[in-house]
Amino acid sequence: MKISVAGTGYVGLVTGVCLAEHGHTVTCVDIDERKVALMESGVSPIYEPGLEELMKKNKDRLHFTTNYQQAYRDADVIFIGVGTPEKKDGSANLTSVYQVAEQIAESVENDCVVVIKSTVPIGTNDKIESFIEASLQRDVNVYVASNPEFLSQGSAVKDTLNASRIVIGVENEAAGDVLQTVYKDFKAPIVVTNRKSAEMIKYASNDFLALKISFINEIANLCEIIGADIEDVAKGMGFDKRIGDQFLKAGIGYGGSCFPKDTKALHWLANFHDYELKTVKAAIDVNENQKLKLLKKSRKYYDRLTGLNVAVLGLTFKPGTDDLREAPTLVNIPLMIEDGANVRAWDPVGMENFKKVHPEGVTYCSSIEEALQEADICFIFTEWEEIKATSLDKYRTLMRRPIVIDGRNCYRLADADKAGILYDSIGRETISQTETSFV
Ligand code: UGA
Repeated sequence: MKISVAGTGYVGLVTGVCLAEHGHTVTCVDIDERKVALMESGVSPIYEPGLEELMKKNKDRLHFTTNYQQAYRDADVIFIGVGTPEKKDGSANLTSVYQVAEQIAESVENDCVVVIKSTVPIGTNDKIESFIEASLQRDVNVYVASNPEFLSQGSAVKDTLNASRIVIGVENEAAGDVLQTVYKDFKAPIVVTNRKSAEMIKYASNDFLALKISFINEIANLCEIIGADIEDVAKGMGFDKRIGDQFLKAGIGYGGSCFPKDTKALHWLANFHDYELKTVKAAIDVNENQKLKLLKKSRKYYDRLTGLNVAVLGLTFKPGTDDLREAPTLVNIPLMIEDGANVRAWDPVGMENFKKVHPEGVTYCSSIEEALQEADICFIFTEWEEIKATSLDKYRTLMRRPIVIDGRNCYRLADADKAGILYDSIGRETISQTETSFV
């Protein structure tokens, strides 16, 4: 099929590349000429395992352009995968989606199906269809279908090629058939429903996962108070298939471009309809508090961080991505700097992006060891494999005072016990086997 994709962020680019991998001819459209030139040369503008390999492998079927008219003119299907960022009030900003819809209406010369992959508030697909219909320049039929995306950053290609499910929201049978054909070689259960239900499936899925994380974080906080161990608690819960063992990892809260935005957007939408979504509101509030948990813990050891060498390991919102959106470090590092700390940060791929936000005030280190050198305290924000593989002895030998506050439970307590460090993690006992007590 002849497919065009609007937007080359995580959703758009990965969708385009995976559709090309399944034999479709795909043209990806973006407004950024520099980015388009880069992708045309086979280079991915985002860090995503396996993506560049597939771009190279399918280069004959995969094209990149800024010329939307040409791309949309005779496409069978046009996917919209542009961003829907959060507005100040928590609602979703749909400016880019409408812009693309307008360009589609102006360009299409044949009947086609427009597929909205971007996460959009319930009811948006209906509005976009009416908007396109009203703006069409030629006598053609354009059907809008909802086809939400469930990929995670860091495993986006794998998640798309081995999708857990494909959700198709349509009001028109023919449009549903077109999408079934697009996905005929994907081995995943297909759920066909109406557009509003498809839009809701996306929000409800993300918000449920966010809720699960906030729930386990609250249980972790209680474990610390009563002396239980969250890792064992989560393991014991996870064997129950009704609960499941995923997304029960306690930490410093969820970040990224999806959960924070989608929880707020659904809460906003419910409010707009005079309904209070209490569980989602609780997930949001718990998450805001959890983000600051490490700094609060540090107060047990130092009244202030003024003049201290502070090692920060991990900057991104999770491992496997260079994305910093809503990463807990974005709130915590400015507070450390404000407190007068000498912040020495390390991240395997996130430093370049962090530098753009904080070109000054942070020393960027080329290795974990360099960050730990002479540190008075160390905060772990992201569970990168490189951090987990770093021996706890290094903290003892390199740091001035081996106080490690781990927001991602990267180490086993038994190992911390032997290492002669002060190790304070999430939802577990604090290990204080240091020669000198800092508490
Ligand atoms: C999330 C969903 O997992 C995807 O299914 C969805 O398609 C995507 O949003 C989206 O809407 O586009 P993503 O934001 O890439 O994917 O990342 P996740 O792996 O879900 O992690 C989100 C945050 O939750 C991270 O900060 C992570 O550290 C945190 N998390 C995750 C926990 O704190 N504990 C867990 O057990 C799992």
